[in-house]
Amino acid sequence: MEIICSCFGISKDDIQDAIASGLSTVDEVAEETGASHGCGRCSQEFDEITKRLLSESA
Ligand code: FES
Repeated sequence: MEIICSCFGISKDDIQDAIASGLSTVDEVAEETGASHGCGRCSQEFDEITKRLLSESA
């Protein structure tokens, strides 16, 4: 399992789950999971992956 945000232990699967539960923006996913709200180191990768997953699920 690929961890995207190590501060909160958020994996790609967690992001996918958040999107599946009805979230539709990067900000909503960040808010819900906490991802990118810690050290910020993951924010670029989190952003890219979440955008890609959102566009795939649209
Ligand atoms: S790794 Fe995601 S906020 Fe630190």
